[in-house]
Amino acid sequence: MSQNASQRQILVTSALPYANGSIHLGHMLEYIQTDMWVRFQKLRGNQCIYVCADDAHGSAIMLRAEKEGITPEQLIDNVKAEHSADFADFLVDFDNYHSTHSEENRELSSLIYERLKEAGHISTRSVTQYFDPEKKMFLADRFIKGTCPKCAAEDQYGDNCEKCGATYEPTELKDPRSAISGATPVLRDSKHFFFRLQDFSDMLKQWTRGGALQESVANKISEWLDSGLHEWDISRDAPYFGFEIPGEPGKYFYVWLDAPVGYMASFKNLCARRPELSFDAYWNADSTAELYHFIGKDIINFHTLFWPAMLEGANFRKPTAVHVHGYLTVNGQKMSKSRGTFIKARTYLEHLSPEYLRYYYAAKLGRGVEDLDLSLDDFVQKVNSDLVGKVVNIASRCAGFIHKGNGGVMVAANPAPELTDAFAKAAPGIAEAYEKRDFARAMRDIMGLADKANAYIADKAPWALNKQEGKEAEVQAICSLGINLFRQLVIFLKPVLPRLAADAEAFLNVPELTWTSHETLLADHQLNPFKPLLTRIEPARIEAMVEASKEDLEAAATETAAATAVATGNGELTKEPIGDEIDFNTFAAVDLRVALIEKCEFVEGADKLLRLTLDIGDAKRNVFSGIKSAYPEPSKLEGRLTLYVANLAPRKMKFGVSEGMVLAAGPGGEDIYLLSPDAGAKPGQRVK
Ligand code: MSP
Ligand code: ZN
Repeated sequence: MSQNASQRQILVTSALPYANGSIHLGHMLEYIQTDMWVRFQKLRGNQCIYVCADDAHGSAIMLRAEKEGITPEQLIDNVKAEHSADFADFLVDFDNYHSTHSEENRELSSLIYERLKEAGHISTRSVTQYFDPEKKMFLADRFIKGTCPKCAAEDQYGDNCEKCGATYEPTELKDPRSAISGATPVLRDSKHFFFRLQDFSDMLKQWTRGGALQESVANKISEWLDSGLHEWDISRDAPYFGFEIPGEPGKYFYVWLDAPVGYMASFKNLCARRPELSFDAYWNADSTAELYHFIGKDIINFHTLFWPAMLEGANFRKPTAVHVHGYLTVNGQKMSKSRGTFIKARTYLEHLSPEYLRYYYAAKLGRGVEDLDLSLDDFVQKVNSDLVGKVVNIASRCAGFIHKGNGGVMVAANPAPELTDAFAKAAPGIAEAYEKRDFARAMRDIMGLADKANAYIADKAPWALNKQEGKEAEVQAICSLGINLFRQLVIFLKPVLPRLAADAEAFLNVPELTWTSHETLLADHQLNPFKPLLTRIEPARIEAMVEASKEDLEAAATETAAATAVATGNGELTKEPIGDEIDFNTFAAVDLRVALIEKCEFVEGADKLLRLTLDIGDAKRNVFSGIKSAYPEPSKLEGRLTLYVANLAPRKMKFGVSEGMVLAAGPGGEDIYLLSPDAGAKPGQRVK
């Protein structure tokens, strides 16, 4: 694209997803909205570059690779391939998708660090921290568990208690244990490196009030700024998967130091392929290019305090704006694996077209940071009524008459100039809504126009006119106008529905539509045959997707709902937690016994399972149970009594044969509670 005077230069990013998990529909809320905004800018003729990358560093990634028996490099390569395919199939069109584990990022992170150090913004001091003597590594707070110092709840994390809500230092925990090895941690000193964030207080007070942030975000930041900024620990000790700090063997940059630098690194990597792009023009302190970061509300401090301060201190430009969005809920609740509403990007794509979700998100996304609810019923209803019922419907109603009556050629007559005027007048408002990221308003305005077009066609009823003699020319004029109005809607919707737009361009027999295409109308123009552009969502597809999301949990996780299975006596998980009535004999057929958990261990390669060795009095049994999320430290279950279904047919699983089932309650995740008899019960005793 050539540059002209009015063309803006815009660099846009989405947060870099962690390289240790799959992309889900919550993530997609961010990538889809960023992509829509970028596509809008490109449609307007601006130079807009969209970069992203996988966030590949940190101990979580190191530990997961270790568990899978592969190197961190292999893990991040695999995940990057998976993420890239998910994004591409959701029509998220990055100009570059890189990795923070890259040469460009190593160089830029080191450069920024060196500049900060030179300017006196780096300090060092000794920090005392828990150290796992078995794993030989320092333990982050979430890798330490113990008893809450306030309420004595067991098995709480190193920084806060989920029972009583207390926050504390890991050193205050009673009976601390390493969540990685189970070993008792010891206190150890180590030198840490700090970024002196407080040096940037004044700059940040100005910058956060200078139009870079949504008001509610700026208000939140004000509270932090007013309570005083502190230095930020940017180093971690080996073993760590990341970049070694220059000149400091055994010390690594904390993952959040090099993660945002990944935005620059991805852009730099792109510049090597696109000679018309200049790294300096976008990143020098005096850059006139625009820089926007789209992020979720959970990572505000990193992007509005640490990152602008790092950029300022290292003599680079600061972001023009940081756009914060809320979290996705599904059917009004937090995404849930047991309800099947924790939906992975890939699972969605196996059942539904990406453009349905793109439209739904657009229709609900405003400028605020409120959470957005994907209500599955509303989703079906809205997509079917707006996209299929309103937009595509115009073309399918009109195309046939033009093909049958005029060889597919649109006539030049405009029988309702007031309608084409209304469309033209609406364009600037729609553009403004897009520009401000008020996608919901843009969609409302566009659907308002679609309603007008449909009302016109319904009123003129070309299908009735067509049966009358001498009305042929009128029918052609009405339908040609209908197609022109459809074309306008497609232009306005193109950032949201790029595939529908491409298919419509093929049908309309026109070159790529741009924003200014709406200023013209097609006249005396040959169309191509019409093919349906989008079909209705069948509710069955939604059910299948939700079911498949439940299956994403390893089959055995269903065993946590064992109480239900027992009640129905068939060992299968029924859909309703409270099922039909059963007779006494069915219930009595269940051989329920007390079992002693003799051994409990992780299962190599299984995300959700624990392997239990049960003592049932006269015999031992091997059972796999999907309760790992609730019991991250399996050895803690050893020696405990539980309830066991002894006469369940053995089930062959990927990891071995499961002989029966233990009983637990709860929806899943961390909310699983293994059932126990009172003390004194003996292994093997039948439950009466
Ligand atoms: N790796 C960091 C970001 C580093 S940016 C320099 C990270 N990764 S993440 O994978 O956890 O999240 C990526 C983005 O997705 C974040 O902006 C996050 O807010 C967003 N979301 C993750 N789950 C989400 C929902 N359930 N709903 C909406 N957005 C969500 O954070
Ligand atoms: Zn507590």
